[in-house]
Amino acid sequence: MGATGHDRTGLLILAAGKGTRMRSQLPKVLHRAGGRSLLGHVLAAAAAAGIPAADIAVVVGYGKDTIQAALAAAGAGAVTLVVQEPQLGTGHAVQSAAAWWRPYARVLVVHGDMPLLSAATLTGLAAQQQSRGCAGVLATATPSTPRAYGRIVRDPRRPECVMGIVEERVATPQQRLIRELNAGFYCFETQALALALSQLGTDNPHKEYYLTDTVAILARRGKAVEALALADERECLGVNDRFELAQLDQFLRRRKADELLHAGVSIELPDTVVIDPEVTVGADTTLESGVHLLGATRIGEGCRIRAHSVVENAVVADGAVIGPFARLREGAEIGAAAHIGNFVEVKKSRIGSGSKANHLAYLGDATVGAGANIGAGTITCNYDGVNKHPTTIGAQAFIGSNSTLVAPVEIGDGAYIAAGSVITDAVAADALALGRARQVAKPGWAAKRRAERKKP
Ligand code: UD1
Ligand code: CA
Repeated sequence: MGATGHDRTGLLILAAGKGTRMRSQLPKVLHRAGGRSLLGHVLAAAAAAGIPAADIAVVVGYGKDTIQAALAAAGAGAVTLVVQEPQLGTGHAVQSAAAWWRPYARVLVVHGDMPLLSAATLTGLAAQQQSRGCAGVLATATPSTPRAYGRIVRDPRRPECVMGIVEERVATPQQRLIRELNAGFYCFETQALALALSQLGTDNPHKEYYLTDTVAILARRGKAVEALALADERECLGVNDRFELAQLDQFLRRRKADELLHAGVSIELPDTVVIDPEVTVGADTTLESGVHLLGATRIGEGCRIRAHSVVENAVVADGAVIGPFARLREGAEIGAAAHIGNFVEVKKSRIGSGSKANHLAYLGDATVGAGANIGAGTITCNYDGVNKHPTTIGAQAFIGSNSTLVAPVEIGDGAYIAAGSVITDAVAADALALGRARQVAKPGWAAKRRAERKKP
C-alpha cells in the first residue's frame, strides 16, 4: 500500500483493552485461534494487503511488555507500539497515537481482536477513501442475527454516507432495529480525524471517548463519511470471551481444511483435523481423522498421514506414509515413500527415501540414508545431558529391534545391527555389529528349580 511521500497509508491496531471477559493474565489479542494469535491474524491480513511493518502501530495498555515480546518473537519488531494509559475508550486510543499517524495522508483503524479481517477490506477502505476524497470510510455488516454492535445511521439525503453510529447502550428502541452494524474497521483522512477527535466528549454511559462519535462530528461539519459493505459479514466477528475464541478457532480450522479439500487433498472427518495457516499439503494426499499439521509443515503429494499423527515444522516428501500416532517434530525431513509408523518420534532428522521406521522408535539429530530399516524400539541417544550429538545411518542399513545408538555414532551403508545392541562405536559398511551380552543357556535349570521348591 501507498508508502509514497504525501500519500502514505498507516495502519493503527487498537489492542489496549484488558479483555476482562477472557478471565486471563494474557492480553486478549495474544490468545490463539486457528493457529495464530488474534493480533497475528490482523498482522497477516496487513501483510497480505502489502502494508509494511514500518507503517503499522499497535495501541497497547494492559500487558504491553508481553505484547512487545510476542511481536519481537514473531519477527514483527518493526511494528510501532503506542502506550495508552489509562484506557479511556476507542477514540482516546486513536488520540493517544496521534503523533504516530499525523504524518500519514490516511490511517486505517482496526480492532486487534477481530481475526477475520481480510486484506481486501484493508485495501478496499483505503482505496475508497483515496478515490472519493472523503473524510472517512467505515466497514459495515448486515448479519442475519442481531449483535450488540454500533448501529449505522445513514444520511437520507446521501445514502452512501453515514450520519452517525449509535452504540447499543444508548440506542433508542427504534435505532436498535437497524440491522446495519459498525464492523470496527475504518479509514480516516488524518486531518479530518484530528479535528473530529479534538471535539470528542464522554457523554455516554461508559464515560468513554468513543471513536464512533467522530462520524457524527464530521457529518455535522458537512464532511462525508462513507460506508463499505463487507463482502462477508462474518469478518466482523470478534472475540470477547473464550466461547467466541473457541468458535472462531473452529471456523478458522474448518476454513483451512476446506481450502485443502478444494486443492485435491482428501480429509477424513474434516472437523477433527487441526491444520495451521502456513501448512501446505500436496494433491492426492489423504489426511486421516485427528491429524495435527502445525507450524511451517509441508506435506508432499500422494502421502497418507494416518490417524492422530502430530506433525510440527516438518517436511514430508511425496508418497510417504506417516502414523497412525506418529510424531514428527521440528526439522524432521521424511524422504519420498518412507514409512514412519505408530509411536515413532522424529526430531531434526533426515530420513532417506523408502526407509522405514514402523514401530516405537526415537530418531533425533539423525541422518538416515535411503532404504534403511529401523527396527521397533530403536533409540538414538542424542543427548548426554549437556549437548546434542548426531547419529548417521547409511543407506540400506538394518537396525535390529531394540537397538540403542549412543551418539555421536556412525553406521555404514548396508550394515547390520543385531537386535538389542547398544552401539557406541562406528560400524563399517556392510559389517554386522553385536553390542550385547552373549546368551547363556542352562539346560534343565528351570525344571530343577521347580522340583527343589516342592520339597518340604
Ligand atoms: C466497538 C465499537 C462498536 C462496534 C464494535 C465492533 C466503539 C465505541 N464502539 O465496540 O461500534 O460495533 O467495536 O467490534 O468504538 N480499545 C483500546 N483502548 C480503549 C478501549 C478499547 O485500545 O480504551 C481497543 C480494544 O482493545 C479492542 C477495540 O479497541 O480491541 C474495541 O474495543 P471494545 O471495547 O471491544 O469496543 P466495543 O464495545 O466492542
Ligand atoms: Ca469488542
